[in-house]
Amino acid sequence: MKILVTGGTGYIGSHTCVELLDNGYEVVIIDNLSNSKRDVVDKIEKITNKKVTFYEGDCCDKNILTKIFKENEISAVIHFAGYKAVGESVLNPLKYYRNNLDSSITLLEVMNDFGVKKIVFSSSATVYGKPDKLPIKEDFPLSTTNPYGTTKLMIENILRDLYKSDNEWSIAILRYFNPIGAHKSGLIGENPNDIPNNLMPYIVKVATGQLECVNVFGNDYDTKDGTGVRDYIHVVDLAKGHIKAIEKIIKSSKVDAYNLGTGNGYSVLEIINTFKKVNNVDFKYKIVDRRPGDIDACYADPSYAKKELDWSALYGIEDMCKDSYNFVQKNK
Ligand code: NAD
Ligand code: UFG
Repeated sequence: MKILVTGGTGYIGSHTCVELLDNGYEVVIIDNLSNSKRDVVDKIEKITNKKVTFYEGDCCDKNILTKIFKENEISAVIHFAGYKAVGESVLNPLKYYRNNLDSSITLLEVMNDFGVKKIVFSSSATVYGKPDKLPIKEDFPLSTTNPYGTTKLMIENILRDLYKSDNEWSIAILRYFNPIGAHKSGLIGENPNDIPNNLMPYIVKVATGQLECVNVFGNDYDTKDGTGVRDYIHVVDLAKGHIKAIEKIIKSSKVDAYNLGTGNGYSVLEIINTFKKVNNVDFKYKIVDRRPGDIDACYADPSYAKKELDWSALYGIEDMCKDSYNFVQKNK
């Protein structure tokens, strides 16, 4: 069975391609390489010892998508392609609305033209806004605090409307919590070129001497040690969740959303201390002001994904810290 993976050379996409190939699926990738590199395809092939069909192109371009569907018998699509930097989306909202919405609508139109009506969509815990209580369940109220998050919520709504209009669609919306870690091989992972916005990529750059000191954004939150608490999930566990979602949408026609998280919340200081311990490294951190827009704590109730997809995360925080460091040490 052939799966089209948009954004398949990106961080989560590349790990998902590995899991798809390992589970006997054929993989076709489209990526415009705006936030990834062509050599990721070779690395996916090296890890799995299987071939991938790669198209360099943009999901906002109907012609290339049509060509892909003509040249390949696609059974389902996993849609990762999009921009994801929260801060940049506040500064340049049109860039985010244009790319994230246009790529999704164009893709859905071409899928519809070819009668391929099965899609897994990358959403985010950001659609829960500032949750009133924890852990977060899928039926909590949805709201957003930045244009990036709004694009995710808008696409979720587009997918629900599409299903209402045509019940042949089968749609899994996956709301990721905080993906970190990397494949054990150290061949694929996350290694932003710029100064990272997210905690783990920043810690890794400090631990490898590329940056001076980790800035801890506030220690006066209403959490166990005052620093922000998040549900970090190993990217390989997350990737495996996509295989379960594909199995689900192939079996049944509906639209549904699933939290992909571990259910455990770790504070910034817990992550820093665990990272130092398991990797036997030392580095500096300092407490600075809160980052505007951040919430105290965010972690999933993952029981619906367990029940409906038969999926749960297996890796712990130690593995996540080890694998993140291993990847960047091998790819400095
Ligand atoms: P990533 O940037 O590593 O991967 C996205 C890929 O899509 C990149 O390779 C990029 O080149 C490509 N791309 C972007 N726009 C495109 C377009 N118009 N046409 C073709 N390719 C395009 O990001 P990621 O961390 O792997 O995230 C994948 C998806 O998961 C995104 O939709 C993101 O919003 C979502 N998500 C990520 C996180 C996270 O913390 N990483 C959390 C929640 C949701
Ligand atoms: N943090 C620091 N220092 C840093 C970076 C982050 O202290 O240099 C703290 C933040 O304040 C927060 C925690 O570390 O308490 C995690 O921050 P991240 O930036 O790594 O992740 P967020 O939870 O803020 O956001 C991420 C993605 C969003 C996504 C959200 C929910 O960046 O796209 O998870 O899935 F929407």
